[in-house]
Amino acid sequence: MPATCVIGLQWGDEAKGKIVDLLTAQFDVVVRYQGGANAGHTVVVGDQTYKLHHVPSGILNPGVMNVVGPGVVVNPATLLKEIQSLLDRQIPVGGNMLLSDRAHVGFPWHIVEDQARNESTADGENIGTTLRGIGPCYRDKVGRSHAFRLGDLYRPDFREKVQRVVEAKKTLLSGWKNARVDSLDAAEIHAEYHGYAERLRPFVGDSTAYLLDAVEAGKRVLFEGAQGSLLDVDHGTYPFVTGSNSSGGGVSAGSGVPGRCSNQVIGVAKAYTTRVGGGPFPTELHDETGVRIRELGREYGTTTGRPRRCGGFDAVAVRYTARLSGIDVISLMMMDVLSHLPEIKVCVAYDLDGQRIRHFPSHVDDLRRVKPIYETIPGWNQDVSGAKTAADLPSGAKAYLARIAELVGRPVAIASVGPGRAQTIMME
Ligand code: IMP
Repeated sequence: MPATCVIGLQWGDEAKGKIVDLLTAQFDVVVRYQGGANAGHTVVVGDQTYKLHHVPSGILNPGVMNVVGPGVVVNPATLLKEIQSLLDRQIPVGGNMLLSDRAHVGFPWHIVEDQARNESTADGENIGTTLRGIGPCYRDKVGRSHAFRLGDLYRPDFREKVQRVVEAKKTLLSGWKNARVDSLDAAEIHAEYHGYAERLRPFVGDSTAYLLDAVEAGKRVLFEGAQGSLLDVDHGTYPFVTGSNSSGGGVSAGSGVPGRCSNQVIGVAKAYTTRVGGGPFPTELHDETGVRIRELGREYGTTTGRPRRCGGFDAVAVRYTARLSGIDVISLMMMDVLSHLPEIKVCVAYDLDGQRIRHFPSHVDDLRRVKPIYETIPGWNQDVSGAKTAADLPSGAKAYLARIAELVGRPVAIASVGPGRAQTIMME
């Protein structure tokens, strides 16, 4: 069966967009199935850089159908801006995109709540969200009474429901410190969203039926994960996670396509680790090397511009997510960033209260206490950004890839040495 999934194995920003973009030529359909405007997929084509938030990365390849599934939360204003900026750059967006009428919709009250929560939470406890209202929107989806799916925007009771929900939200949020409830006006929000709904109408439909037909017809489908497995709401570093299932488990729930239809899962990881926002990060580097990785890797958020926290490769975490997400092979990204480090430290186990462990702790308090146990690998001190094949890589870089494969327990099939399409090495 011809479906492939691309899943992040760390805390997001693993450069999944680049891998999806490279693969799309071999696929008929690309599907986003979770997350929303919090995601930022950067794709570099020639001298052009595209930053995508909702729209699947397949949009940059002519002839590919792009589906936004039921598990995504859509912010219509951001999505419309994204569509417009693609059109402005002569990228066609029309019949090649389908938005699920089951996808939930982000509203201003979600952002008001997200902001109030961020501003009212003490530093160590703050998730440091992207402030896009993602968590509150997913919470309303699960809570059911205050939620809107895209299809609801076209129903006759839409205006009345907005009125009812705005009143309820004002009551609920008025007790919250820093919640700017005065900004919520039902008539204005209805008018604004009615306008969005009309502009999005040509794209909205039953994506589940479409995808089930597609897999039955033998079409080749690529599932594009957003965020990374360590941000998964059930299996990640809870509560410092996002609101959706961003590990491999989310593919089926978020798209409607049964898991048995996928025959390949590619896990994407950086050759080091980054994290944006709060939460434990055992291999975080607060030294010169951390700063160097940030500058060389241009490690600043695509969506928020925040500097990313940087650290060494954590094989305990990636071994966990590789197994959790059921990956077949690893795509190891940003190898070029490590080119000139004299030595590279890889975390091979944790010390938890004096005990050496190799499993990833389920409780955030334990993860906060672990001390990484490192293995030091010599650097290769050679620019690899021009390497085209495995044979072009210095032996030190090859040894690094081999050791990561061994520690994670999966082969490295792809090594990326720069942002461009050509800077990608297919390993034997
Ligand atoms: P939220 O998804 O905006 O609720 O944010 C929850 C956590 O996930 C925060 O730590 C964010 O920084 C992180 N996060 C959300 N989306 C992304 C992403 O696309 N890349 C990296 N981190 C993300």
